[in-house]
Amino acid sequence: MASPAPSPAAPLLALATFAVLVSAAASAAACSATDREALLAIRAALSEAHLGVFSSWTGTECCTNWYGVSCDPTTGRVADLTLRGEADDAVMAPDGRPTSGVMSGYISDAVCRLDRLSSLILADWKQISGPIPSCVATSLSYLSILELSGNRLTGEIPQSVGILSRLTMFNLADNLISGSIPCSISSLASLRHLDLSNNQLTGGIPANLGNLTMLSRALLGRNRLSGPIPTSVGSLTRLADLDLSENQLTGSIPDSLGSGHVLTSLYLGSNRISGGIPASLLQNKGLGILNLSRNAVDGTIPDVFTSQSYFMVLDLSRNQLTGTVPRSLASATYVGHLDLSHNRLCGSLPAGPPFDHLDAEWFASNSCLCGGPLGKCT
Ligand SMILES: *[C@@H]1O[C@H](CO)[C@@H](O)[C@H](O)[C@H]1NC(C)=O
Ligand SMILES: *[C@@H]1O[C@H](CO)[C@@H](O)[C@H](O)[C@H]1NC(C)=O
Repeated sequence: MASPAPSPAAPLLALATFAVLVSAAASAAACSATDREALLAIRAALSEAHLGVFSSWTGTECCTNWYGVSCDPTTGRVADLTLRGEADDAVMAPDGRPTSGVMSGYISDAVCRLDRLSSLILADWKQISGPIPSCVATSLSYLSILELSGNRLTGEIPQSVGILSRLTMFNLADNLISGSIPCSISSLASLRHLDLSNNQLTGGIPANLGNLTMLSRALLGRNRLSGPIPTSVGSLTRLADLDLSENQLTGSIPDSLGSGHVLTSLYLGSNRISGGIPASLLQNKGLGILNLSRNAVDGTIPDVFTSQSYFMVLDLSRNQLTGTVPRSLASATYVGHLDLSHNRLCGSLPAGPPFDHLDAEWFASNSCLCGGPLGKCT
């Protein structure tokens, strides 16, 4: 029996299927018209003269052809806007050598119409000024990455930033942001990386910072923050790097900080911190960088070092430490940069490998230290 002749409808069906596929592909690429308008308004508020960062922003295909823009393929809504002044792609490094871009202007409120954005990165342009539109917090509820570092942004952190419940990365470093850190920041339950370094922030560190259970880096150095280090930071079990240096913090170092299981670096230099050094900090096996320089830390240095102590940097200089240099420090596996200068230490330096290669200047200006590089005790 001959196989049945194909029904005359079959080619038509195939054609129809093909048309559906093609139109699906086209709609995947099509940029939402309202998002395109918003992008053009954002572009109109910014200016970049040398690299032509925005030269691809023409025509209607903002999802496929516009530099720095990408979309959700199923909805055609803009999901990422990523423009970095320091990058090594074809636009930013036309001769294969990365250039350092400069962009001026301000961040238009129109950015808040891109209400499906999951990342907004306008970083290292040096000259973008003006405030962060406060509607960023209230309108961009899908935001996971907000990175506006390396500009000249002024004004305050939007008060309601805490409602951005999906935020994992919040980086405003190296701007001119003033005002205080909103308490609402402690509601950012997904936050992993907080960088507000090198701004003009005043006021205290929110007491509930310890609510940010996912936080692994908290960089708040080089501001004008005052008040104590909240005890709650000791409950941040994933905290690896804490930088609070060059502020005006007072009070003592919370004991709880030393029990951080993954704490790797702790920078508290140039504050007004007083009280003693918690033994738990020096006993913490993972801590490789501890800088307490230029504070008013007093008491003795706890004699708790072990063969598991491994410090790239141990800078306790310019404090009011008394007593002797702990004997146990000689048992440390490695101490790269040790600075105990400008304290009130006294007595002979311990003998042992870590002390064989140390410089006299790292012990300078103490009460009555001697031995090792300082010469014989009399
Ligand atoms: C932080 O946690 C404390 C309890 O540990 C709770 O009372 C407070 O409401 C929380 N704050 C925020 C902003 O989530
Ligand atoms: C420790 O911190 C102080 C103040 O921030 C800084 O001046 C110093 O260079 C730091 N020490 C080391 C070894 O990095």
